[in-house]
Amino acid sequence: MTLNEITENAFKKAFGELEIGEIKVLPATDPKFGDYQCNDALKLAKKLKMNPREIANKVAEALDREYFEKVEVAGPGFLNLTVRRTWLAQSLANLAKSQVLGIPQSGKGKKIVIDYSSPNAAKQMHIGHIRSTVIGNAIDRIFRSLGYDVIADNHLGDWGTQFGILIKGYRECLNDEERANLTVANLEKCYVLSAAKAKEEDGVWKDACRAELVKLQQGDEANIALWKKFIEISIGEFERMYSKLGVKFDTYRGESYYNNMMGGIVEKLVQMNLAVESEGALIVNLEEEKLGVAIVRKSDGGFNYTTSDLACVKSRVEEYDPERIIYVTDDRQKLHFAQFFSISKKMGYDVKLVHVPFGLMSFQGKAISTREGNLIRLEELLAEAKRRAFEIVKERGGDEQLAESIGYGAVKYTDLSHDPATAIDFDWDKALALDGNSGPYLQYAHARVCSLLAKAGIENDSSLPIENIVQDEAPATKRLALQLLEFPGAVVRAAEAYKPSILADYLHETAQIYSSFYQNIPVLKSDEALKSSRLALCSLFGEVLRKGLELLGIDAPNRI
Ligand code: ARG
Repeated sequence: MTLNEITENAFKKAFGELEIGEIKVLPATDPKFGDYQCNDALKLAKKLKMNPREIANKVAEALDREYFEKVEVAGPGFLNLTVRRTWLAQSLANLAKSQVLGIPQSGKGKKIVIDYSSPNAAKQMHIGHIRSTVIGNAIDRIFRSLGYDVIADNHLGDWGTQFGILIKGYRECLNDEERANLTVANLEKCYVLSAAKAKEEDGVWKDACRAELVKLQQGDEANIALWKKFIEISIGEFERMYSKLGVKFDTYRGESYYNNMMGGIVEKLVQMNLAVESEGALIVNLEEEKLGVAIVRKSDGGFNYTTSDLACVKSRVEEYDPERIIYVTDDRQKLHFAQFFSISKKMGYDVKLVHVPFGLMSFQGKAISTREGNLIRLEELLAEAKRRAFEIVKERGGDEQLAESIGYGAVKYTDLSHDPATAIDFDWDKALALDGNSGPYLQYAHARVCSLLAKAGIENDSSLPIENIVQDEAPATKRLALQLLEFPGAVVRAAEAYKPSILADYLHETAQIYSSFYQNIPVLKSDEALKSSRLALCSLFGEVLRKGLELLGIDAPNRI
């Protein structure tokens, strides 16, 4: 039984089967108050028309002492709980035995779509694309671990006016060889050249680009073929980045996928009296919700980002009937999401829509911008991470693969260890520090515990008698054990808040607690009975760390 259940039973025993709602037992804020605390007596005071201290006292009496060594009522009605080592040992044994390391499979039978990364085609991925890719992928992994059926969708920016400029540029700004070996870099180059010409006074080039765009929109075979080629080449390059980052998508449905559904959306909006004409455009007025107005059809008759995202919701609801759709983009798109979420609700689409906005990333203290010349390509950043990591591991005999695990892990962890909502700065020294809150620090902690287990000759031995921990009186053992039991809760909290940083924080704290355990408690040198259960605890720590890193998309090599 979980502590929540045990405590809930005590509430029921004390107050009968009344609607008490969920009872929550939390780790104590300070070990001097015990191991856990429950503050729900305060919550129930109104309902029960009783003093919260009185409630807490009654619950304390009703609590099953088989599980608790000490129960105290403190302050206005807090319950401070100290668990028995028998309970601790049993719970650890259950955790160690569990195939999913205790992560509740609460998502079984539920489908969700996660829309992330979603770069624009025909452009190289740069440092600014890391956040959506890495945060989105960690959320994806976390939800899968909870048993959800996840559809990871890469909503590429693969349609729009830029394709007129690109087609014209491809035909006239590239040479034969560049066209024959088309790369995203060349596409970018011809875009820049063509876009510059489109700014010329006489407007001839600009008109020609428009004409190519119109031909594309009308299905002209040659232009469609070129457009397809651009997309294919772009996806090919994106996938090279994704494979380095361990990121996989189930679908690559770009904006263009929804092209022929947008007319229907606008019709429906008009029918439902949600959209009205205004200065030649069609708009949805959201002033009442303080969300301004959203254009759904421009005055030139074209549709836009809002129309496309509405069509996308409709399509996903009809095809998958997901419980939720999660979008991971930078926070400059907040208004866009708030607007189309509101419209989608008014249209009656029955799905929870969640925007996970993230803050800007700066690089070594400087804003990232093309003008500053520090718009670092993702490929370069990853190559540099690998190069720097190799410098670190080569002295220890590490190879290129290890350098990738550490370098890419450092890049990802920098991002994931911060609340997505905050702006972050990427700094090489911090990212690669072997101490401090970094990816390599956690990887190193993992490798160290692996080598300890190897030394004891018990790697991958899951039959270690962890329940013997019951004989271990050392406070540091208990501290580590209690912390490991929090793993499933950390995964759940990270998912509920859409913040992988909650899991990263938990892992960092756990590694610190382990490190102080290991410094203060003899493991290999303790007597036989204690030794085996302490090793079992170390092994469980290794497993928790490995699983946690996996959920963040970070490798956990056995040796560093
Ligand atoms: N392509 C967009 C960008 O680069 C992100 C798309 C996010 N997904 C969505 N359904 N709007 O900003």
